[in-house]
Amino acid sequence: MYKVLRIIFLILLMITPIFQPIEVLSGTPMRHNYVGVEMCKLCHKKKELGDQYDIWTNTAHSKAFYTLGTPEAREIASGLGIRDPQQSGKCLRCHATCYEFTEEKVSEDLRVEDGVQCESCHGPGEEYMYLEIMENIDKARENGLTMSTEETCRKCHNPESPTWNPERDSTPDGGKVDFYYPLRKMMIEHHKPVKEIKK
Ligand code: HEC
Ligand code: HEC
Ligand code: HEC
Ligand code: HEC
Repeated sequence: MYKVLRIIFLILLMITPIFQPIEVLSGTPMRHNYVGVEMCKLCHKKKELGDQYDIWTNTAHSKAFYTLGTPEAREIASGLGIRDPQQSGKCLRCHATCYEFTEEKVSEDLRVEDGVQCESCHGPGEEYMYLEIMENIDKARENGLTMSTEETCRKCHNPESPTWNPERDSTPDGGKVDFYYPLRKMMIEHHKPVKEIKK
């Protein structure tokens, strides 16, 4: 009997996460701060890394703030009682990274003009942006780097958008859907596998 208790005690000791960081124990994820696309640009404008920066500047995401300044945006906004969409969290929560999917600006360091930048999809970069961490993908992930999935896109590409169109995209079999992920992913592909480019 005593022996059994001792074994149970030992097993408990082995699985008790005494060495885990506080945030793992408390179950709340650690908060990382945003650094802005200018920081990512320092390395990701390099040709040998794939120049993701340049490709991003040619996607709609990089212009999402300016879209809110168009007559179309103003008309939509005024219909919703919003005077200036470029100043309203009700629009900026999906059109600018610095609102982080909320109606409040979360970072004073980020430029609203940068629209939907890297960190909306890859997570706030404060901890992972250092070369010795970035070069080790596992380490980068431990420090807040995320790779987006369709779920990430759906944080903004969803029916809460005032221009939502359930038949916006065509599928290969001739159907109509709101957001066809394989196609949309191709449209933003800035992502030649880094390792292949290096060769
Ligand atoms: C100091 C240079 C540097 C900075 C700054 C930097 N990166 Fe990187 N990043 C790298 C390098 C180098 C790799 C390639 C690692 C490899 O494949 O060996 C990389 C890889 C990545 C990857 C691919 C990860 C994977 O799983 O393949 C993503 C995504 C990424 N970086 C996003 C960012 C974002 C977003 C920022 C800004 C917040 C940023 N990086 C800032 C150097 C940097
Ligand atoms: C933070 C919010 C947000 C996230 C996350 C997001 N998007 Fe977007 N996306 C937008 C906004 C806003 C626009 C419209 C930009 C504009 O036209 O000014 C847009 C536009 C696009 C367009 C351009 C459509 C066109 O007709 O030119 C594509 C493609 C796209 N998104 C794909 C994706 C994919 C794929 C993901 C996930 C990997 C994703 N988006 C995640 C907000 C987001
Ligand atoms: C829930 C997220 C979300 C909110 C909130 C949001 N948008 Fe958007 N907006 C998007 C996405 C995503 C797109 C890109 C649509 C696509 O390509 O599927 C977009 C595109 C647009 C476009 C380009 C036309 C089009 O449909 O492609 C305009 C104009 C626009 N939004 C105006 C606004 C205004 C004005 C507000 C505030 C009243 C606002 N949006 C709030 C997500 C949002
Ligand atoms: C709208 C979301 C979105 C934005 C904005 C975005 N990315 Fe990505 N990124 C992705 C997706 C999706 C992938 C591919 C993930 C996969 O294949 O699993 C990716 C992959 C990558 C990769 C890895 C390439 C590889 O080898 O697969 C790098 C590096 C990267 N992004 C850097 C950046 C940088 C730097 C920026 C800003 C200049 C940026 N991304 C902006 C969604 C985004």
